[in-house]
Amino acid sequence: MPTAQSILSRTPDLAALEAVTTPVESDVVVVGVCAASTVDDGEAGGRGAGTGADLVVVAPGLSGEATGAVAAAASAVAASTTVGATTRIPAVDGVPGASVMLVGLGKDDDERTDETLRRAAGSAARACRGLGTALVALDTDRAEAVALGAGLGSFRPAKVTAKDEEPTTDTLRILVADSVAATAVDRAAVVADCVGLARDFVNTPPNLLFPGSFADRAAELGAGAGLEVEVLDEAALADGGFGGILAVGGGSSRPPRLVRLTHRGGEGRPTVALVGKGVTFDTGGISIKPAAGMEQMTMDMGGAAAVVATVILAARLGLDLTVIATVPMAENMPSATAYRPGDVLTMYGGTTVEVQNTDAEGRLILADAIVRACEDSPSHLIDTATLTGAQMVALGKRTPGVMGTEDFRDRVAELSREAGEGGWPMPLPEELRDGLDSEVADLTNVTPHRWGGMLSAGLFLSEFVADGVEWAHIDVAGPAYNDGGADGYLPKGATGVPVRTMLAVLEDIAAG
Ligand code: BES
Ligand code: MN
Ligand code: ZN
Repeated sequence: MPTAQSILSRTPDLAALEAVTTPVESDVVVVGVCAASTVDDGEAGGRGAGTGADLVVVAPGLSGEATGAVAAAASAVAASTTVGATTRIPAVDGVPGASVMLVGLGKDDDERTDETLRRAAGSAARACRGLGTALVALDTDRAEAVALGAGLGSFRPAKVTAKDEEPTTDTLRILVADSVAATAVDRAAVVADCVGLARDFVNTPPNLLFPGSFADRAAELGAGAGLEVEVLDEAALADGGFGGILAVGGGSSRPPRLVRLTHRGGEGRPTVALVGKGVTFDTGGISIKPAAGMEQMTMDMGGAAAVVATVILAARLGLDLTVIATVPMAENMPSATAYRPGDVLTMYGGTTVEVQNTDAEGRLILADAIVRACEDSPSHLIDTATLTGAQMVALGKRTPGVMGTEDFRDRVAELSREAGEGGWPMPLPEELRDGLDSEVADLTNVTPHRWGGMLSAGLFLSEFVADGVEWAHIDVAGPAYNDGGADGYLPKGATGVPVRTMLAVLEDIAAG
């Protein structure tokens, strides 16, 4: 299906999500299986639980006999109870489907988190791909977690191929308690779709997704969602004095862009600025990167993708606050027109920066965008970027580093963990700031040593945030991209992190 021409215009390939309040006959029925903590025979808390000797089947909506028979069958094949492990078995009497997809939920206890449900539902959805209509009966009271995990897990990355690839036609029917829970499923479908959009942008190869094509598609989708759209091309960037974006994008034959997308809330509502790094490919520039692994630098626009997806999500959910996305897009290439180590740039707003390393480019385009974003007088600003390899050294592949003004930083990190994206608060130590002093300009773009590389990047950005703005910087160098296998609701490749963190923060601010 996605050809070179269509990959950028496709809609995310996800299963349809639908809420059902009764266990309607389907092709496959997804139920939970967990390790028995205490022996408990019969109904557990109305969840419709049945036991084998060693495991408990969680299958709300199924009769006690049917659940018991599934448990016996699951036990007979020693189905794994590891969270997200899937085992497909034939249906037994009383199951409304042709087969049963058992999915591990871990230990049978009441502490089961939303994240456990999301991960399990995500794995199950992936395992059900191509099986038709699945009834997902995991927890009727936590419909949003189940639906969101299932939706996110059903995402199929696009392939650029000459063959005809049919989009997914599967439907995931989420068994829910009532019409209130059904609303949660609709919402989850919108969230999963927008996370899918971020993933599609990131997964699009860098010959097809470059500043011009990225800006065009973001503008088209933004307009479609009812956003105000402004795109600054290279001439407008030069007129405006966006020295960071112009320098970083100057080495490429495909010129840079600055995209602005605004979702308007009601009169008097708070304004939140979102800024995302959109380096569509990062060679390092004249300070060129080693060849090994350079192909991964196609994901260096993960922050921008997440920000574009989030402002569209804010519109589609009708959040009552103003959200203004400011998204710099550039390709960092070495060439005769590239910026060089030693150049002194005049950034948007006038601050000068000595370039010591052209591979520390993200902070340069972000600095321009942050200054522009602060002109809108937001109460809060979130920027996100695949900014530093040091993020992965400090926190690994799955944990975003969150820096910024302390209270807001902590709030963002906590909401990120609740959302299942795992953000962790990190400091901006004063003693590292000296390393950014320059002999020839206001700042240099790198410190003379590599210690605390994630933090010194954060300190650099802090210089461009207007006084009084509550600010959080989320470094997702590792978390934006999964170079391992699919896991839970995370596919291989782009993850869409931190869309759900930013959504949670926007909703938290909107709620006051
Ligand atoms: N885009 C990279 C950071 C990155 C590295 C993201 C690996 C994802 C995976 C960024 O532009 C970069 O090159 N950072 C340098 C900064 C250094 C020159 C101070 C880095 O982290 O090495
Ligand atoms: Mn770089
Ligand atoms: Zn980069």
